[in-house]
Amino acid sequence: MLSVESIKKIDHELTKYPSDQKQSAVMSALAIAQDEKGWLATETMDFVARYLGMPPIAVYEVATFYNMYNLQPLGKCKITICTNLPCALSGANEAVAHIQKKLGIGFNETSADGKFTLKEGECMGACGDAPVLLVNNKRMCSFMSDDMIDQLLEELSK
Ligand code: FES
Repeated sequence: MLSVESIKKIDHELTKYPSDQKQSAVMSALAIAQDEKGWLATETMDFVARYLGMPPIAVYEVATFYNMYNLQPLGKCKITICTNLPCALSGANEAVAHIQKKLGIGFNETSADGKFTLKEGECMGACGDAPVLLVNNKRMCSFMSDDMIDQLLEELSK
């Protein structure tokens, strides 16, 4: 179900916890699975559950709670922009409008070329850097003016 490389990474995560506490690695295991597959299909989560000796429902609970997990196929680049109040007061809504106009999509939509999916995010703990957004959960971009958004989208389009 997962590649040998991904299993090795999960096994490495498991070394961080007591052998009877495998479920402690569930978030890491899901992230590793998602890195390989791009999203978490039910069968992928079921595999993680079996591998960690957890009830599948316990894995679904984790995967559906955190918005970094993709529960459906997305575009190549998932852009998650924070729209919580501190960011909204510092230009997040204008940044959202600019991105939506540039890409021609709304929240939870994917561009026609399959390159971008736009998501609305919660506070990322970087309120002083607003507007802030995340690319594929791992790259945080701060102070996103219209010009910086244009540069980022151009870079990600390549
Ligand atoms: S409110 Fe946007 S990062 Fe905190």
